[in-house]
Amino acid sequence: MDSKLIETLDKLNTNHSLELEEYQLLIENINPDLMKRAAEYAVKYQEQFYGNKVFIRGLVEFTNYCKNDCYYCGIRRGNRECERYRLRTEDIISCAHEGYKLGFRTVVLQGGEDFAYSDEDICDIIRRIKAEHDDMVVTLSIGERDHDSYQAYFDAGADRYLLRHETANPELYTRLHPAEMSFLHRMNCLQDLKNIGYQVGAGFMVQSPGQTARDLAMDLKFIEEFKPDMCGIGPYISHKDTPFAKEESGTLEMTLFLISLLRMIYPQMLIPATTALGTIHPKGREMGIQAGANVVMPNLSPTSVRKMYTLYDNKICTGEEAAECINCLKGRVSFVGYEIVEDAGDRVGFYK
Ligand code: SAM
Ligand code: FES
Repeated sequence: MDSKLIETLDKLNTNHSLELEEYQLLIENINPDLMKRAAEYAVKYQEQFYGNKVFIRGLVEFTNYCKNDCYYCGIRRGNRECERYRLRTEDIISCAHEGYKLGFRTVVLQGGEDFAYSDEDICDIIRRIKAEHDDMVVTLSIGERDHDSYQAYFDAGADRYLLRHETANPELYTRLHPAEMSFLHRMNCLQDLKNIGYQVGAGFMVQSPGQTARDLAMDLKFIEEFKPDMCGIGPYISHKDTPFAKEESGTLEMTLFLISLLRMIYPQMLIPATTALGTIHPKGREMGIQAGANVVMPNLSPTSVRKMYTLYDNKICTGEEAAECINCLKGRVSFVGYEIVEDAGDRVGFYK
């Protein structure tokens, strides 16, 4: 292998930081040997901070209404083919309760940007989940809201917030989203969430339409500097009813390589092996863990609505009950030498 590539990867291992051009060099020259070396470094950190433990988050996709029109997303408001649903407060709470019984200690409430749920509705849901199970961590993933709303959810008991930055290149951002959406606003939201005290998850799609190696290098540099507690990445996967229907999906290899690089950049960071990764390859999530990921997010949504939360084509796990999903994942994870644990799964060092 090119010695410059080895040198650059080793430098990342020592400094947890590279110049933008160096990240770009690694990405442009991805090859099986480089991936293997990066995964070896990544797994070393994974072991150091998390042993062979894999954390689980129960995902409740509670609404597929969205006011946004992201060009890549299957539940964008412009998709007339998408059958819409909203879960009632009682249903959301009962999903969280089912999850608790199955061993989940984190529930992720995710949805499109749906303002039919007021701040008070969201706070009520958080309070009621916490009242039932005070050791259940509540993570929100409901998009961009203003500072006061984020503060209100936090005060009501929300612990974490997932808001992928999607891309760190403002120009690419404008090509992936309609003009009404703002890169700066999204970045400001992430900063607000961090300032308020949430454990914050950023993240990006891998090989989204038009994305270059330089763009991905910018994402890595952003993660290096912003240091979110979590970083969720998954391949871009096309959806038949979006403007990007004919665009190519991202690859398994690039996603795995970037997971390893992220682990090297910030060894304590929580990194999920995403459903999108499991969608592009039957063993994608297991491979993600072996590349350095340490979180999986099985679905707790009622099976009656699963197929309606279709962000991209052929999404996996839309037919199984929650219990089946978790059992399936336990088997998959243990097959590659890891163990799913009943634990809130905070980022190591967050509560120091
Ligand atoms: N509305 C919330 C938000 O914007 O953060 C959360 C829901 S949104 C559907 C969750 C994530 O799905 C997005 O951040 C995006 O990265 C991912 N996503 C959407 N469409 C996708 C696609 N076609 N392929 C892969 N990931 C996609
Ligand atoms: Fe809103 Fe995808 S466009 S969740």
